[in-house]
Amino acid sequence: MKCIALTADDGPAAPETGTLLKYLAQYKARATFFVVGQNVAAHPDIVRAEMKSGHEVANHSWNHPVLTSLTPAQIRSQLERTSAAIKAATGKEPTLFRPPYGAIDGHVRAATSLSPVLWDRDTLDWKTHDPAEVAQTVISQAEPDDVVLIHDLHATSVAAVPEILRTLSARGYHFVTVSHLHATL
Ligand code: NI
Repeated sequence: MKCIALTADDGPAAPETGTLLKYLAQYKARATFFVVGQNVAAHPDIVRAEMKSGHEVANHSWNHPVLTSLTPAQIRSQLERTSAAIKAATGKEPTLFRPPYGAIDGHVRAATSLSPVLWDRDTLDWKTHDPAEVAQTVISQAEPDDVVLIHDLHATSVAAVPEILRTLSARGYHFVTVSHLHATL
C-alpha cells in the first residue's frame, strides 16, 4: 500500500486547524499534528477534536525555541509541559516530537523518551503562502512512505490540502498518521 504521512506543524490555530480537519474528513485522510504547547493551552478543544477524528497529536515544544541552544533542563521543560497539555486536552500522552526548525542533537535526544520525527518533503509553505504552489510541490515530489510538512496556522497552507488529497488519493495513496507509517515500515 502506498502511504503518505501528512504532518501539520505549529498549531492549533483558529479557524485554520478546524478547516483542515474538515478537509481531512472529506477525504477520510489521517494526519499528524505537531502542536505547540502554548497553542494547546489556548485551544484545547481543537486538539481534542484532532484526536477524536482519528489523527495523531504530537509534541512540537512549548513555544518553538531552537532546542539545541537550550540546557537539558530547559529542553525537558519544553517537551514535558507540552506533553502534559496534550494529555490534559486529549487524555493521551504523545509518543512523538518534532524539534522546531529540525534542530536536533545528542543532547536533545537524551533529554526525552519521545521519538523524533523530521520530514521528507518540505513545502516551504510558510515562505510562499501560495496554495497552488504548495499543492504542486507535494504532488510533484510525493513518493510512497514520505512524511510531508505543512503548517496549519497559515490559511494558504490549509487551502492547498484539498488538491493534495484529491490528486494523490486518485494515484492510490493513503494518508496515514506517522505512527501508522512507522508501524508498517
Ligand atoms: Ni514549527
